[in-house]
Amino acid sequence: MPATILVGTQWGDEGKGKITDLISDRYSYVVRYQGGNNAGHTVVTDKYKLALHLIPSGIVYPTITPVIGNGCVIDPKVLLDEINLLEGEGIPCERLRISGNAHVIMPYHRDLDGANERRLGNNLIGTTRRGIGPAYQDKMSRMGLRMQDMLDHGIFRDKVEAALREKNDILSKVYGLPTYTVDQICDEYFAYADRLAPMICDTTPLLHDADAAGEQILFEGAQATMLDIDFGTYPFVTSSNCTAGGAITGSGVSMRSIDHILGVMKAYVTRVGSGPFPTEAPEGDPAGDRLCEIGHEYGVTTGRRRRCGWFDAVVARYAVQVNGLTDIAMTKLDVLSEFDTIKVCVAYDCDGVRYDRMPQNQTAMHHAKPVYEELPGWREDITGCRSYEELPKLARDYVDRIEALAGAPISIIAVGPSREQTIVRGW
Ligand code: GDP
Ligand code: IMO
Ligand code: MG
Repeated sequence: MPATILVGTQWGDEGKGKITDLISDRYSYVVRYQGGNNAGHTVVTDKYKLALHLIPSGIVYPTITPVIGNGCVIDPKVLLDEINLLEGEGIPCERLRISGNAHVIMPYHRDLDGANERRLGNNLIGTTRRGIGPAYQDKMSRMGLRMQDMLDHGIFRDKVEAALREKNDILSKVYGLPTYTVDQICDEYFAYADRLAPMICDTTPLLHDADAAGEQILFEGAQATMLDIDFGTYPFVTSSNCTAGGAITGSGVSMRSIDHILGVMKAYVTRVGSGPFPTEAPEGDPAGDRLCEIGHEYGVTTGRRRRCGWFDAVVARYAVQVNGLTDIAMTKLDVLSEFDTIKVCVAYDCDGVRYDRMPQNQTAMHHAKPVYEELPGWREDITGCRSYEELPKLARDYVDRIEALAGAPISIIAVGPSREQTIVRGW
C-alpha cells in the first residue's frame, strides 16, 4: 500500500516542509489537502532556502507531480506569485496539478478576515488575514467559487454577481469598507485563469490511477492537530481539518490506501496567534526568549514572533491518537543543546484536577497548568550527528523519554534546518 500522510502535531511550524523535502524522493506525488497560503513551509537544501505557502514542498524534485487537492482554498494571485518565484529559482512548475474543486479565495474574503479580527478586539484569533476562514465559510454555506468556475466565464460572472449581492452589503453596511464590482473581480480573476487553466483538472482520478499503478503518494499536511477545526483549541484554530482524516476528504484517495502516518513534532512547542498554550514560557522566563532566539521562531508567512514553551506530552499523545501516527519525526532537537535542564510537561493541572489526556472542555484547557518533569541537558553541539548512536547519551535519553510519553516510534530526528542535518532510524 503506497500512501503516507504527514501531519503537524502541535500548533504548526514543526518543520513539515523540511521533513516533506527529506522523504519526498521516494514518492511520485506530493499532495496538499487542506489550508491555503496561511501555511509557510521552509525547505533548505544546498541550492535554495524556500518558503512555500501553497505549492507542495515536493516541487523541488523534478520527478514529482505536486498536487493541490480539493480540500484546499487557493488565492490565485498568491499561487501565481509562488510559481513565478519558483521558476525564477529554476524549478519548473508546469507539472503542478490543481483540483478544479478547490475553492477560490476572493478579495472580499481577505477583507472580511481582517474586519472580523478587528471586530473581535482583544478576543481576536490572530489569523494570518489571508481570507482562509471566510473562504471555507462560503464553501460550507454553498456559495463559494471553485477553481473550475474560473474556466467558465459565464458561470464565474453569475456566481460573483450572486456573492457580491451579499458581500458588498456586509463590507459597506457592517464594516464601512469599500465594495467591489463584478467587472473588477472578473477582469482580475480571468487573467489568473488564463495562466492556471492548463494546471486545473480533476485531481481525484489522477491520484486513483497513481494509486492503482502502485505509485507512492505523500500527503503534506498544513497547520497542525491543535489548529484543526474539530480537534484543536476551538475557536483558536484554523478553518480546516489538518489532521490525517483531512487527507482523505481533501483528496478523494481512500483511507485503505494509507500505510504510514508520520507526525512532525518539534522538540519543544511554539504557537502563533491567540489561544491556550499550557507550556508557554511565562513572561519574564528567559527560557522562552532563548527558545525563540536559538530556534529563530519567527513566522514564515506573517513574520510574527512565535510564542515558545517546553515540550507538551499531553498534546503529543493526543496527536498520536487523533491521527493514528505510525511514526514521529522529531525536529529542532539541536535547539535544546544550549539548556542545562529541559522541562517536559507530562500532564495538566486544571483547577486542582489532574489531566493525563487532552481536556475537551475549553475552560479547563484555558486553566491548564503544566505538570513538569525535568531532564538534564546535554550541552553539546549535535548538528553534525548523523546517527542515533552519535547523539550524546543525555540527548538519546530525551528522545527515548518523549517516545515513551507520546506512544509512537520516533523514526526521524532533525538536528538542523538543512536536508542532510537529519538522523533517520527505521523510516
Ligand atoms: P512548517 O510550517 O511545519 O513547515 O515549519 P516552518 O518552516 O514554518 O518552521 C520550521 C523552521 O525550523 C524553519 O525555519 C526550518 O528551516 C527550521 N527547521 C526545521 N527543522 C529544523 C531542525 O531540526 N533544527 C533547526 N535548528 N531548525 C529546523
Ligand atoms: P504551517 O503549515 C502556524 C494559525 C494562525 C491563527 C490560526 C488561524 O506553516 O504550520 P488562519 O489564517 O488559518 O485563519 O489563522 O491558525 N495558523 C498557523 N500557525 N503555522 C501555520 O501553518 C498556520 N496557519 C494558520 O496564526 O492562530
Ligand atoms: Mg510554517
